[in-house]
Amino acid sequence: MVELRPLSAADVPEVRQWWREHWGGDTMIAHGEVFHPEALEGFAAEEGGRWVGLITCRLGQGECEITSLDSLQERQGTGTRLMQAVIQKAREAGCRRVRLTTTNDNLNALGFYQKRGFALLALRQGAVDETRKVKPAIPLIGQNGIPLRDELELELLL
Ligand SMILES: CC(C)(COP(=O)(O)OP(=O)(O)OC[C@H]1O[C@@H](n2cnc3c(N)ncnc32)[C@H](O)[C@@H]1OP(=O)(O)O)[C@@H](O)C(=O)NCCC(=O)NCCS
Repeated sequence: MVELRPLSAADVPEVRQWWREHWGGDTMIAHGEVFHPEALEGFAAEEGGRWVGLITCRLGQGECEITSLDSLQERQGTGTRLMQAVIQKAREAGCRRVRLTTTNDNLNALGFYQKRGFALLALRQGAVDETRKVKPAIPLIGQNGIPLRDELELELLL
């Protein structure tokens, strides 16, 4: 049974460790901005005391930016539940939109977000190549054997 719970300040070390394991470093970088776990909110999906999913986000200035989303047990509804939890949080905070950044190789995520109401907003050509200069763990070849180069921004209007 997978249960969601909001993150607290005590979770920061585990978020950092999760990002190291899944995203190659203890910060996330999108549109040239560096995100640190201690400045973020979000939800963990837990099963038997173990994290099987994580979503992090930043709320402010009337919008919510999702800074990471992972599900380790795919196609069981966990990613959708994590997304819904953040959307509800954003609505309660009075946000006008939820935005996020993904990458050109991530065909699965592009489908996942668009099926859940997100629309493409921007293409930042070569943005991942720039980020790789400060985060060299980012591979040259990403998912699906696709060269990992660009950022794609999506938004969901609330
Ligand atoms: C993108 C991601 C978060 C989705 O998480 P997930 O847990 O697989 O998401 P869900 O299970 O809610 O939905 C995935 C699909 O499984 C389907 N599904 C859900 N429960 C299911 C079930 N019991 N049986 C069959 N299919 C099911 C959903 O309908 C969905 O398909 P759809 O998009 O065609 O509607 C996950 O694939 C992931 O972590 N990817 C790697 C990290 C990543 O790329 N993150 C995004 C970075 S921007």
